[in-house]
Amino acid sequence: MKRTLGTCYYPEHWPEDIWVDDAARMADLGLSWVRIGEFAWSRLEPAQGRYDFGWLDRAIDVLGNAGLQVVLGTPTATPPRWMLDRHPDMLAVDADGRPRGFGSRRHYCFSHEGYRAEAVKITEALARRYGRNPHVAAWQTDNEYGCHDTVISFSNAARGAFRDWLARRYQSVDALNRAWGNVFWSMDYDSFDQIGLPNLTVTEPNPSHALDFRRFSSDQVAHFNGAQVDVIRRHSDAPISHNYMGRITDFDHFVTGAQMEIATWDSYPLGFLEDRVEGDDAHKRRYARQGDPDFQALHHDLYRAVGAARGGHGAGGGRWWVMEQQPGPVNWAPHNPAPLPGMVRFWTWEAFAHGAECVSYFRWRQAPFAQEQYHAGLLRPDSVEAPGYAEAAQVAAELVAMPQVETAQAPVAIVFDYTSVWAWEVQPQGQGCDYFRLVLDIYRGCRKLGLSIDILPAATVDLSGYKLVLIPGLVALPEALKDAVAQAEGTVILGPRTNAKTAELAVPLPLPPNIPGIDVTISRVETFRADMPQMVAGGGAVTLWREHLETSERVLEAAAADGTPLMVGNGKTHYLGGWPDPVFLARILTRAAKTEGLATQTLPQDIRIRQSGPTRFVFNHGPAPVDFEGQVIPPAGVVWSGSLGTGAL
Ligand code: GAL
Repeated sequence: MKRTLGTCYYPEHWPEDIWVDDAARMADLGLSWVRIGEFAWSRLEPAQGRYDFGWLDRAIDVLGNAGLQVVLGTPTATPPRWMLDRHPDMLAVDADGRPRGFGSRRHYCFSHEGYRAEAVKITEALARRYGRNPHVAAWQTDNEYGCHDTVISFSNAARGAFRDWLARRYQSVDALNRAWGNVFWSMDYDSFDQIGLPNLTVTEPNPSHALDFRRFSSDQVAHFNGAQVDVIRRHSDAPISHNYMGRITDFDHFVTGAQMEIATWDSYPLGFLEDRVEGDDAHKRRYARQGDPDFQALHHDLYRAVGAARGGHGAGGGRWWVMEQQPGPVNWAPHNPAPLPGMVRFWTWEAFAHGAECVSYFRWRQAPFAQEQYHAGLLRPDSVEAPGYAEAAQVAAELVAMPQVETAQAPVAIVFDYTSVWAWEVQPQGQGCDYFRLVLDIYRGCRKLGLSIDILPAATVDLSGYKLVLIPGLVALPEALKDAVAQAEGTVILGPRTNAKTAELAVPLPLPPNIPGIDVTISRVETFRADMPQMVAGGGAVTLWREHLETSERVLEAAAADGTPLMVGNGKTHYLGGWPDPVFLARILTRAAKTEGLATQTLPQDIRIRQSGPTRFVFNHGPAPVDFEGQVIPPAGVVWSGSLGTGAL
């Protein structure tokens, strides 16, 4: 697959007489793609039913004539002000019952049918007009579903739709009462019409109620997206995508992924380090100008899997892009430093090493007005090149020399499940017990040993080809995945908290984890403060979460204090009853990898490796040069060798 570059452009922000020059400069820089339109609703339909497509026609022509391919976004993340007069109750409502206001973006409620119809209407108008336009080579629906905490809405529209959703799911209210355990605290309902949303309760709501509301909210996103996709498909053969975000997990991306050809995501490594990665001050200082060494990579691997959701998981994964790549300081994190020189190029190559088809920089030119004035672009507001420009130009030149990066199935798989994110959030059992954090810890542990990883959805039915499969925290294992575990060729490590609950979030009987082929029962669960590690006999500790295991199986790891089992194994199926710290995790992984004949190495702190088909990439994420395998790799350095030849910075 040929790798390409792109940028995000807002022709409606700039005088028309500079478009031609902008387009020529983009092409000259070596960009192939330009995404436009995703926030332009007020200029496309200035008043209800009055369309103005003239400027967009001309913008697409200008860009297309310069040789660029256009990704056209539907503008539904930014309903214009007049929409609110037509649909005063379209606003999403927060958990305290307050409607969210107009004046930024994403203020709509996914359950509002009137708004959904308006979104379909503008999408249809765009698809009709541009569906066969030769320059429109891809589509994007909306923009970053879920960003700014916008999936969950406690509106009247959501309540009505939730009741219908529950009636479909449970058929009878008695079945719902049984499934939720509503006899507890006299919470029984007589009809679906009595059921409210799980906010404003005196203390925590019934977790089954809360989890179903999370499932429903996720389904509403898929319903909203699916409506746009259907309309676009009627008028266009171009691939459809959506730009997902970092650590936004309020809807099931594998479900929306199955609706579209390409998954894309928006990668802001420095912003994410500041506001979405757990880590102490030293970690945040060390990587302030580079970003967390594993956070972006995890998302690359996740979205490769989301991109595969439509066509199944092929050896190299699915089609995916970085739609928005940070090109300099952003404006929205607690602190917004500039990237280390070389980092923009580094992030671009990191994405390609994980299989991205395209990396597109956000944004072409820094906007001197409105919310993102200090957010860098490739150009400054005065159109002079910003530092990211030269780095993009360098990648463009490198891609001319070697445009192909292959991907192949990785030796290690980690299963990731959105329902489990919600289940842990609904019932964390202890502060800091967060599913995404657990998965990131396990992912990081694998990466520190030099391993390359595929992320798989819980709907996976075949684990063949993987030497090591990790299934941490997946709260309710689907039957097909249980079968796949039983038939796996490699070692499978499940736990902690894997298959711990029923689909309704109750404790099952017999007690969990009920994993075929391994005799282990969790007799009780403890959670701890992060500064209370529970030492493990062989070294390291479990933190935050510990399960007490009854077993007749071989004990692989035991508590230092009393020798009680922490990890047990039967053949290739292992169960881990706690949240491992890095030392404990490294031992578990190294042992399993060794059994499977999978080579590991303990990498220097800042080095990460990605084996991309026949090419091996080495990345130095640190602030200082690192001596690695006989080479000195500078900060922000990328070294590769293999089928792409040998390259270095
Ligand atoms: C993204 C968003 C863009 C822009 C950018 C700033 O989340 O899609 O529109 O706001 O962040 O970093």
